[in-house]
Amino acid sequence: MRFHKEREKVLIIDFGSQVTKLIGRNVRELGVYSEIITPNQLRKLENFDKIKGLILSGGPSSVVSKKYQTIPKKIFDKKIPILGICYGLQLIAKLFGGKIKPSKKSREFGRAFLIKKNNSLLIKKFIKKNNLVWMSHEDAVIKLPKNFKTVASTINSKLTIIEHTKKKIYGIQFHPEVTHTENGKQIFKNFLFLICKIKKNWNISSQKERLIKEIKEIVKESKVICALSGGVDSSVVALLINQAIKKNLICIMVDTGLMRKDEFKDTYKIFKKKYKLNIKLINSSKLFLKKLKNISEPEKKRKIIGKLFVEVFEKESRKFKDIKFLAQGTLYPDIIESRTATGSKTSKIKSHHNVGGLPKKMRLKLLEPLKEFFKDEVRILGNSLNLVDSINYKHPFPGPGLGIRIVGSITSQKIKILQEADYIYINELKKNNLYNKIWQAYAALLPIKTVGVMGDSRTYENICLLRAVTSIDGMTADYYSFPKNFFDKISNKIVNNVKGINRVVYDITSKPPSTIELE
Ligand code: XMP
Repeated sequence: MRFHKEREKVLIIDFGSQVTKLIGRNVRELGVYSEIITPNQLRKLENFDKIKGLILSGGPSSVVSKKYQTIPKKIFDKKIPILGICYGLQLIAKLFGGKIKPSKKSREFGRAFLIKKNNSLLIKKFIKKNNLVWMSHEDAVIKLPKNFKTVASTINSKLTIIEHTKKKIYGIQFHPEVTHTENGKQIFKNFLFLICKIKKNWNISSQKERLIKEIKEIVKESKVICALSGGVDSSVVALLINQAIKKNLICIMVDTGLMRKDEFKDTYKIFKKKYKLNIKLINSSKLFLKKLKNISEPEKKRKIIGKLFVEVFEKESRKFKDIKFLAQGTLYPDIIESRTATGSKTSKIKSHHNVGGLPKKMRLKLLEPLKEFFKDEVRILGNSLNLVDSINYKHPFPGPGLGIRIVGSITSQKIKILQEADYIYINELKKNNLYNKIWQAYAALLPIKTVGVMGDSRTYENICLLRAVTSIDGMTADYYSFPKNFFDKISNKIVNNVKGINRVVYDITSKPPSTIELE
């Protein structure tokens, strides 16, 4: 799939902030097409005809250090409106001769209140009394650059919003892209529609027809193979390609034995009966269990599961002739994350597994129709493809499945116990209208046994850990606060119905410092 050379757009220059993706989402949610690129990609850009605005993101770099990320100064002569956020503001200030100070005193993390100093299109309908904004910076602009005026201040930073007096160049120190800033979207609205004067040109449901047409043009009469897991991404990919090329799509479903209760069976039923997809089923659960025997180190488990999955998938796909393409549910954030603004590798916390790495060996071309979409956009596409809600709004599930939710070594008995507990937990969430308020919830099994008492007998059984988090993209997360009566109900139900569990605990850590999964 290609990006849109012909479409008017706003470019977001990514200086490496954790929340750059949220700028992209904000812009797209307002109906404007945007792309996130690195400063290097901007440097190489020759044609600016379709670029209606530039947004410079935040980032870890400091303009007061010797080496810092920058952009060519001639960008400012192109008459394209520019909005700098946090590091973006500091860079603009630096390039226009302002003064920036790395100061422990001026650093601000968390809430701040905005005080209006001058009128500006950027803050139209944004500033109310005491606007709450979210700060996260150490350096601060302490001297206004030439030809700039102050639009707003906070107690700690006088130059919180600045504006060029002749050109459409703006800088803001706080982060309007995060939900903690009250009414932050209004800043983007003003920038896009009042300042850049760009027209709405992005609507996900209308992308469906374009994608189907493009798939037809690319694939022609060839065959496409796709690993279908029943998660929202691979499901939307399969339905899209199926609408484009029907019988030439072959889906492979690998049963690793590490799926949730009934998930494999239910997914197969839905795609075979309702959508009439061409599906090949492979039951490898015994093989996975054998290879995982006595393995308790998390990274080892992840590697074994990932490698085995690729081997099984590869072996099966070789049985089909004339396959030219491998379809994958790669999303836009995956593309952005695989390259960083500085070129430096972010530290590896866990090795995430998907079917990446297959094409090199298999000499297949990649087909990645979701490469330009965010997760919530994929769900809108899923809706327009009539994907059933139970799959379209399913919580994310990691590639290694229950394998990383059974802490320590894996046995078939532990899988069964966990499947039952997780099933009860998820069903209760659905019954109590909580499932859709939570980004991800699951049950896990801890490798410790504790003593309990049931009736008149002593028990010595496993601990079940429950996790539920709210999040926007899985990068950060908060644990969900259940009402006490939900806890009462769920612990009772699990202990009474799942043989092998006599204690239920709830995980009350956020990410960071924890991660969402346990391994
Ligand atoms: P962590 O545990 O790193 O998880 O906070 C963040 C999100 O990623 C999911 N996750 C995975 N997804 N393959 C995947 O496709 C994996 O190996 C994997 N590991 C974690 C996790 O469920 C959460 O949504």
